[in-house]
Amino acid sequence: MSTTAPARFISFEGIDGSGKSTQARMLADTLRGAGHDVVLTREPGGSPGAEEIRRLVLEGDPDRWSAETEILLFTAARRDHLERTIRPALAAGKIVICDRFADSTRMYQGLRGAGLREQVDALHELMIGVEPDLTVLVDMDPDVGLARALGRNGTEERFETFGADLQARMRAGFLDLARTHPERIATVNGAQTVDAVAAEVLAVVEPRLI
Ligand code: TYD
Repeated sequence: MSTTAPARFISFEGIDGSGKSTQARMLADTLRGAGHDVVLTREPGGSPGAEEIRRLVLEGDPDRWSAETEILLFTAARRDHLERTIRPALAAGKIVICDRFADSTRMYQGLRGAGLREQVDALHELMIGVEPDLTVLVDMDPDVGLARALGRNGTEERFETFGADLQARMRAGFLDLARTHPERIATVNGAQTVDAVAAEVLAVVEPRLI
């Protein structure tokens, strides 16, 4: 795929508190304002079944599942999301903006131990088999991101108590992924005002719209 190939399936990625959810929402609003038909969705979740899996995996005891079981649960949620929400929307000619997709499993589960990344990729190939046309990586210093994430105080504390160390490794992992897949992943600097980040996001996305 060339860097100017049209993008209809767009994902946002980044560490906790990177501001990617805000950016995904702002992009959806901007594109809708320009007359596009947009489905804004998220992972884990985005379909009724996947939202149920989201509760299983994000609420309760953080040690409830092993990393391997989490890979299965996140991939199961993704499969349902793809079948019920993403594919039908794309088939109807809509733009899909997804807050997190498979890159999150590659980082959050794949970096937790030896051999896990390979398992994530193998299961992805077997059960999902698609990547977004364009992934916007909102890059952010983990100290700033963690402070933001903890400040939100929701019930989903599962991953946000991981600490700055793992977040730093994930940031490096995301940047690595972006270097490996420059045709798909564009990095924007999250350490700016919300509006400045949004402008960077739009500069990346606009040339890719049909
Ligand atoms: P999200 O709702 O995006 O949280 P935030 O807005 O704080 O980034 O995601 C919830 C958590 O789920 C987040 O900590 C990352 C984690 N996650 C995984 O561990 N693996 C995955 O495959 C996905 C999609 C999310």
